[in-house]
Amino acid sequence: MVELSVRLGALELRNPVMTASGTYGHGLEMCHFTPPELLGALVSKTVTLAPRPGNPTPRICETQLGLLNSIGLENKGIESYLEHTLPEVEKADTVIVTNAGGESIEEYREMARILDGQGAVDAIELNLSCPNIQGGALPFSTDPAKAAEVVAAAREATSKPLFAKLSPNVAHIARMARAVEEAGADAITAVNTLLGLSVDWRRRKPGLGTVHGGYSGPAIKPVALHCAWACARAVEIPVIGCGGISTAEDALEFLVAGCAAVQLGTACFADPALPGRLVAELHELLRREGIASVGDLIGTLRDGREENLEARSGNGEERPKGIPVR
Ligand code: FUM
Repeated sequence: MVELSVRLGALELRNPVMTASGTYGHGLEMCHFTPPELLGALVSKTVTLAPRPGNPTPRICETQLGLLNSIGLENKGIESYLEHTLPEVEKADTVIVTNAGGESIEEYREMARILDGQGAVDAIELNLSCPNIQGGALPFSTDPAKAAEVVAAAREATSKPLFAKLSPNVAHIARMARAVEEAGADAITAVNTLLGLSVDWRRRKPGLGTVHGGYSGPAIKPVALHCAWACARAVEIPVIGCGGISTAEDALEFLVAGCAAVQLGTACFADPALPGRLVAELHELLRREGIASVGDLIGTLRDGREENLEARSGNGEERPKGIPVR
């Protein structure tokens, strides 16, 4: 037997495999493909205070190597989530993470306050990084001070574990990571989608109704891995890797790079049974490699930078230390 359980701060996950927000329903819609008890955690599609109709169509556009989306946080709002979704989700034997979105600090604070009172919610993931609202310029996604304000406001409103989901569309993701850690986040999800554009040159039209959207899928894995690694080096809180993961090997790359868990996103659209299968594959892979516990791999990347970082300490970018093993 291989030990697959991992710790995410105060939470214990039975394995490091989580679903990514927006790719596995709001509640248990997809769980006939992977029973919740096989998952490390189930993460909801973003819920907002008021219902949102979403963006103009087309909202999804396949590209050569990935997927562009511009859903626009379509959802029925928190009242409907509490009334219809949570009672169902409560029955699931897994860690439940509600992803909460907003367009102002007050909205995030209120979401955190409301979710704080919900026993079925084990953690709140703050979506600071949706590229499909406010024309792709949500200030919380790129400005460390603004992201910190959101997290601090939510922190005041809840004692539940708070995850901050960051955008890769920044120059220095380590600064974002440190800002949200200092503001009280308990974990970081790295990362959301990359801003992208698809063009039908014959029709002179963009592939998406909003012109640009969020790019995801296997092509972004190296970008996401770099972001997750940079975050893990920059903070003490756990980092959850997300972006282009579709195999057990991919998941292990993120864990070795310093992530305590991973989220499966776009790959679930093609194969909704993937999360359960990937857990089994992870187990088998580690068994074959003679690794007794997945936790032994977390943060074990030998990147040869320790000495360089010693020399560069004090530039405020990265801490001169190895990745903490969590
Ligand atoms: O447009 C969307 O609903 C996507 C959300 C996200 O990437 O955070």
